[in-house]
Amino acid sequence: MPDRKTDRPIPHLPGFDSTATFLREGYDFVGSRCRRLGSDAFHTRLMLRPVTCVRGPEAARMFYAPGRMTRRGAMPASVVALLQDRGSVQTLDGKAHRTRRALFLDLMSPERLEQGRRIFADEWQAAAAGWRGRTVMLRDEVQKVMTRTALRWCGVPFTEDEVAARTDELTAMIGAAGSLGPVYLRARALRARSERWARAAVHRARDEGRAEGALARIVAHRDVDGSTLNDAVAGVELLNLLRPIVAVGRYIVFAAHALHRHRDATTAFLNDAPGDAARIEAIAQEVRRLYPFFPVIGGRVLTPFTWRGRDFAAGEWLILDLYGTGRDGAAWDRAENFYPARHLTGGDAGGALIAQGGGDMESGHRCPGEWLTVALMCAGIEALLALDHDVPEQDLDIPRNRFPPWPRDGMRIRVASGPSVLWS
Ligand code: HEM
Repeated sequence: MPDRKTDRPIPHLPGFDSTATFLREGYDFVGSRCRRLGSDAFHTRLMLRPVTCVRGPEAARMFYAPGRMTRRGAMPASVVALLQDRGSVQTLDGKAHRTRRALFLDLMSPERLEQGRRIFADEWQAAAAGWRGRTVMLRDEVQKVMTRTALRWCGVPFTEDEVAARTDELTAMIGAAGSLGPVYLRARALRARSERWARAAVHRARDEGRAEGALARIVAHRDVDGSTLNDAVAGVELLNLLRPIVAVGRYIVFAAHALHRHRDATTAFLNDAPGDAARIEAIAQEVRRLYPFFPVIGGRVLTPFTWRGRDFAAGEWLILDLYGTGRDGAAWDRAENFYPARHLTGGDAGGALIAQGGGDMESGHRCPGEWLTVALMCAGIEALLALDHDVPEQDLDIPRNRFPPWPRDGMRIRVASGPSVLWS
């Protein structure tokens, strides 16, 4: 694995501002600069603001030191408005953050994760019955399956007529987070409609006094000052569960892509220990490590600190390369290879699997939905393995400058006409 120079001052990129290069190169921007500079950090400007870009497990530990960074003012306002929004857990710090975060962590018990898997399997089976003998675009089909899974897991009642609207809203928030222009404006309008719907769902649950599942936990939640969440904030947090559960569908499509691209290797890997759930999870982890989702996460310094001989003052802006850390050649052996077996023994390469953020699960900003993501991905991989299908000729390229991307042709699959067999 290549050497990394950590005893030199953090280098500056040439040029005044790197925004255009970042948008052009996308996911590869930070990693390729780090490789070229032989450094896991560099200074530049993005959107004219000075920023320090960092990648790798050591940089992640620096970034996620408790209490060090806030997410406020650390991501473009356009992204925040679609993804987390005002008053949400991600905008909080300190004790207020920990108290709100408990709402999400309480929902991740083994029983609730198992329930998520069961609901997904049920929804997938119902949808897949309609795919028999047809060529379907997995991208579109999975989004509907995930929307129904998310609504059921959160305990939100819905009618069949509503599913299309919710699918549209929840997928637009994710798909347009990195866009500008009409695509973004449409997503903002859908987000506003979705917030109205979520507020009404919370209000109804309170009125009727018989909420279930995650919705019940949101309604009962007390913030650090002992107050319950108002309907607007409760609605935002409800969307903070629904939207990312739908987002897991993208990873399931990526898993289909990986199972196809690496068919012989994954078949041999699974056949070595038939029925071994750890191998399914290893495939899920390798998909999370290699496939593009959040390119980076931003933080602004709350508590000044020194790293690599440089003093970071309050308010300074850093971005951590989530995608590039998964492909960091100093952390991972044969980093670019799809090799799930590494996860059977290797752990997370000292904290280098940070597709969903890093650091402490209890108190930091690391994604509280990570276990649910992996559970749903495992259920998705099992469902794909059980689905008798092949992959017709198409463009399987995944663009590196869309945030986040799909396989270009939406991952079309041709499903056999007979029923599926359960993977075991
Ligand atoms: C495709 C799957 C997912 C990806 C790629 C993803 C990624 C992320 C990332 C990168 C962060 C920011 C971490 C940071 O600020 O340091 C985050 C935060 C968050 N995620 Fe996820 N996530 C996913 C699924 C989920 C799921 C399934 C849930 C809940 C059901 C969830 C709920 C949240 C929440 C509430 C936060 C804010 C946490 C905080 O600020 O304390 N995510 N996620």
